[in-house]
Parts: sequence; C-alpha cells; structure tokens
Amino acid sequence: MATHTPITRRQLAAMAGATALVLSFAAPALAEPIVIKFSHVVAPDTPKGKGAAKFEELAEAYTNGAVDVQVYPNSQLYKDKEELEALQLGAVQMLAPSLAKFGPLGVQDFEVFDLPYIFKDYDALHAVTKGEVGKMLLGKLEDKGITGLAYWDNGFKIMSANSPVITPDDFLGLKMRIQSSKVLEAEMNALGAVPQVMAFSEVYQALQTGVVDGTENPPSNMYTQKMNEVQKHATISNHGYLGYAVIVNKQFWDGLPEDVRAGLDKAMAEATDYANGIAKAENEAALEAMKAAGTTEFHEMTEEERATWVEVLTPVHDEMADRIGAETIAAVKAATGG
Ligand code: LMR
Repeated sequence: MATHTPITRRQLAAMAGATALVLSFAAPALAEPIVIKFSHVVAPDTPKGKGAAKFEELAEAYTNGAVDVQVYPNSQLYKDKEELEALQLGAVQMLAPSLAKFGPLGVQDFEVFDLPYIFKDYDALHAVTKGEVGKMLLGKLEDKGITGLAYWDNGFKIMSANSPVITPDDFLGLKMRIQSSKVLEAEMNALGAVPQVMAFSEVYQALQTGVVDGTENPPSNMYTQKMNEVQKHATISNHGYLGYAVIVNKQFWDGLPEDVRAGLDKAMAEATDYANGIAKAENEAALEAMKAAGTTEFHEMTEEERATWVEVLTPVHDEMADRIGAETIAAVKAATGG
C-alpha cells in the first residue's frame, strides 16, 4: 500500500524553480521569430535589391511576424563564391546569385543563360524561366542541398571599357572582367579579349586602377556600382542576359513549419512578380541616368555591327554544348522558339 508522504517546503521550492526554468526557456523560444538571412552582392536600388526588400516586407506580413527576414546587400556579408558556401553550410538561408555563378556548385546547366544571343528579349527568356525548362533546371539544385524557389530578372548586358568596343577587333587583348562562368570565358575569348573572373564587389576598383580594362553588365548594375564613372565607352550590345535564381538551404526550408512555408511561398510568388515587373524599366532608367551623367560615351549598334557580333559569338553555343549539356541547350531553344 502506498504511503502518502507530504511534500516538504524545500521540495515545493525546487518544483517552482524547475517550472520557472522551463518557462524561462520556453517563453522566448515561442516568441523568437525564425531568422532568414538573405545575402546578395548588388545595391539595394536594383531589381534584385528591391525584390529582396519586397520579399522581406511580404514574408514578415504573411507569416504574422513568425519570420524575420534580414537582407544584407552589397556583399556586406559574403562575396560571390563565399555566399554559396555559406548557404550550403547554413550560415545564411537565402541568396539570389546570378545564373552565371552556379558552375562552381557543379550545376553547369545554368550557364545556358549566358550563351550570347540565346534570348532575343524578355518574352523569350520568360518562356524558359516561367515554364517547364526553368522548373527542370531548378530541380538540379536539390542534390546540392539547395532548393530553387524562383527566377528574378535583371536584364541584357552592355559591354564597357576605357576604349571604344564597337567591333570584335576592338576587344583584342582587352582584359575583361567576367562572372565565374565558362561560357562567359568562351565569349570573351571569341572576341579576342582576355577574360578575368572577379567577384562583383571588386569590379569598380579593378576598373578604376586599370587591373581590368572593361566588363559587361546590365545598366542597373553598372550604374548602381558607379562603373560608368570609370568606363569611358560602352556599346549597347544586349549580347547576353543576366538574371538570378532565388535559392534556399534545402534542409532549412524543408524543416520549416508548413504554415510558415506557405506564407513564404506566397511572399516569394508576389516578390517575384514585383521584381520581374520592374527589371526592364529599372535598366532603362539606369541607362538614361548614365547617359545624362556624361562620363561614358554610349554607342548604339548598327544592324551590320550587330550581325558581326552574332557571327563571332554564336559559335560559343556549340563550343559549350558538352559543358552545359546539349539537351539543356536544345530544351531552352525549343522553349524560346529558336
Ligand atoms: C556580377 O557579378 O556581375 C553580377 O552577377 C552581380 C549581380 O548579382 O547582379
């Protein structure tokens, strides 16, 4: 028969202490939002920067504050290569690297987006990024511990240097900064230039000091990094595309409570529409602002000049077929109708 032992004052005090301890651990844990560090390398005042800010605002609203999105622009936290490593290690949760930067991860298919003249305009691009081919490509990241959530547009690149870059001959021997893409390397080689892979955050200074002679970027990046102040010439070549995949650490994403993930999915869908809705106009405005600044002479291509560039640069498609995957290139061309 069990005997009833009265609880002593000491035992009671110990129990109260234990309860207080449990509460003191539990209460802040319940109130603490889930932090999403979103690191990127461009200025806040760009299509990507504005898209990230929009996602922050919507994500926090749609999860009723259960998530705290912290955006770190301008390579504040990590540079190009480091940010991908940081994502895989879980030091940051979200990035939007340019599609030209996935090669070092072992997913070379994304370099299809770097092929010269593969997209004639934003509509052709969207036939890929908003369709099955885009989805298939994002799926290739899963094996690397990464989930691809969306494509965000930037725009079509222009070539700049401190000497005129109007014909392919003008590129001979010029040191041209590129992103870490073998396709971009092949593109610059086709022009007779000397490609130099360099982190985005280092480009302005490299141009200023003459470490490189020129570069390629959409106007929004060129303007917000003030590259126009250190580039005397540019050709509005629109020879290639630069855009992004918004990616998250897969383990982190899969481990989120379902209702939180649903709120974030909704926020991402709307932030994507927003970012892609402003990209073209942002680039047009940046180009106008640089023309007005007057530090760079902008050259509009003639049809003949463009035809020469196309002739010199399109062999890169076949040259890079083994690296990118002939099937991926064919799928992209089929989706764009050409
Ligand atoms: C670059 O390195 O030139 C771009 O990828 C930067 C960016 O994120 O737009």
